[in-house]
Amino acid sequence: MSALSIKGLKKNFGLAEVICGVDLEVEKGEIHAVIGPNGAGKSTFFNLLSGAFSPTEGEILLNGERIEGLGPEKIQQRGLTRSFQVSNVFVNLSVFENIRCACFKKERAGYVFWRSAAGVKKANERAEEVLEMIGLQALREVPAGALPYASQRALEIGMTIACGADVVLLDEPTAGMSNTETSQAIDLIRQVAKGRTLMIVEHDMGVVFELADRISVLVYGEIIATGKPESIRCDPRVKEAYLGEEAA
Ligand SMILES: Nc1ncnc2c1ncn2[C@@H]1O[C@H](COP(=O)(O)OP(=O)(O)OP(=O)(O)O)[C@@H](O)[C@H]1O
Ligand SMILES: [Mg+2]
Repeated sequence: MSALSIKGLKKNFGLAEVICGVDLEVEKGEIHAVIGPNGAGKSTFFNLLSGAFSPTEGEILLNGERIEGLGPEKIQQRGLTRSFQVSNVFVNLSVFENIRCACFKKERAGYVFWRSAAGVKKANERAEEVLEMIGLQALREVPAGALPYASQRALEIGMTIACGADVVLLDEPTAGMSNTETSQAIDLIRQVAKGRTLMIVEHDMGVVFELADRISVLVYGEIIATGKPESIRCDPRVKEAYLGEEAA
């Protein structure tokens, strides 16, 4: 069974058709990159998958169950989440406390955590694991709002997986990063991908070709090609529509 099975997905904003009938199977455990020019509909596609938008038409199955139109909270409970944005981070809380909050969500301990000592213990242990995975141990007591940009993005990824998601969507995870920060982010994404299914939207082709098991190319709301990096690189339609000189 696919992690995600997308059938005939459409999204209109008024008269504008932004997603025009997308069919895609995302296999369990793969890193699937979605590339395409500005305004192609990549973020809209992710917003449909994560429940921020309801589709105009079509079906989205997560592990075989229909999720389209359920809303972000319910979809997250079923195991799919997109990376946290800066706005989801509590800027005055420390790195560790932010991760702990996300872990409480997973343990469903939430605001009644004092009722469940086991839940607290589990959340604390999990928070330590996540902190180590994202490599922010040295910054654990720093308020999230005071982190350097790349560390803030790492924290967002950490909080995403702390919530317990096994299908994770990352929209431009290396945007605005230096070369060094980007290569650290690639390592982190590889770590996060272990035992999970990942979809990433990314403009940096170096990152895409380094990380992706398969790539889908979205142009004007349609997927014009899906395949392994080698075949996408050589696909004449893709070269023409998107990669241009870079691929040649
Ligand atoms: N909420 C909205 N209401 C109306 N139009 C929207 C909305 N969100 C996106 N659009 C339009 O849909 C199209 C696709 O936008 P989207 O942000 O999905 O593209 P993208 O592929 O993520 O682009 P980029 O690479 O620049 O991030 C654009 O023309 C955009 O203006
Ligand atoms: Mg976008």
